[in-house]
Amino acid sequence: MGTTEIRKVGVVGLGTMGAGIAQVCVQAGVETVGREISAELGEKAREKIAHFLGRAVEKERMTAKERDAALGRLALTTEIADFADCDLVIEAAFEDIAVKHELFEALDATVREDAILATNTSALSVTQIAAASRKPERVVGMHFFNPAPLMPLVEIVRAQRTSEEVVDAAYAFAQRVGKEPIRCNDTPGFVVNRILIPLLNDCVRVLDEAGVSVEDLDKAMRFGAGWPMGPTALLDLVGIDVHVHASEAIWSGLREPRMAPPPRLKAMADAGLLGRKTGRGFFEYDD
Ligand code: 3HC
Repeated sequence: MGTTEIRKVGVVGLGTMGAGIAQVCVQAGVETVGREISAELGEKAREKIAHFLGRAVEKERMTAKERDAALGRLALTTEIADFADCDLVIEAAFEDIAVKHELFEALDATVREDAILATNTSALSVTQIAAASRKPERVVGMHFFNPAPLMPLVEIVRAQRTSEEVVDAAYAFAQRVGKEPIRCNDTPGFVVNRILIPLLNDCVRVLDEAGVSVEDLDKAMRFGAGWPMGPTALLDLVGIDVHVHASEAIWSGLREPRMAPPPRLKAMADAGLLGRKTGRGFFEYDD
């Protein structure tokens, strides 16, 4: 297991993260099949990938021929059965343990014995997800960061029963598609979110405590701490709902008050002010 060469990759769920991961794979020359629950959602993801590759052509970072070849490597499906010949399947579906368990059971019944099953979960325990598989040794976390095509890091998460061979194969694959992987244990938030989520929560608390405007808070962290983007702009990019969910999951694992999402973020999530994807969060967006 895990020694097979990864020729074909499956991606389950083509939302922001799944579409980004599929883009990374096809850009790196890997045949990829992406699965969404409807053909329309799959097509939307393909259009998004085509848009970003088109921008790369406009900026002369890629030729039109390379873009067409990359898009040609992307197949779309609504059927898990189409993952039968994949060497690696990366799950990037909804962050709900029941959904993940159903998917991993279906994947288990579909893929070859030596295929690797990875999850891009940021909030759930990889060990708990792997428990739905008859072969938890082949289940590993591959946690990409948003936007996946631009962020170099991938956390390769070793769950309780993941084999070292599978960890090594996932690590090598991340390197092959141009990423900078690290290895870590399956603890709440892994490495980056364990640090970043309470930090972003603190930033939101400071908004009220320090009587600073949203714009000035972002300015403070960009120009005083060298962040590439301000904390509220980052929360809008990640998605307020995604952040609140991940924050609650880390809080329930560690029970440290800083891990819990501030009421202001929960209220935004309840009100549907989710950031870029809904056109409004801390800021307004028209794209
Ligand atoms: N999404 C966005 N842009 C993409 C893209 C994609 N999927 N694929 C390609 N691109 C291209 C765009 O087309 C754009 O070019 P264009 O403007 O000509 O169209 C280009 O990449 C990005 O250009 P920018 O000028 O916006 O790039 P920046 O130099 O400003 O960098 C950034 C953008 C990389 C997002 C930078 O601001 C940054 O590093 N921000 C921090 C992001 C971060 O911290 N992410 C982690 C979030 S936490 C997380 O993901 C964990 C999860 O579990 C919650």
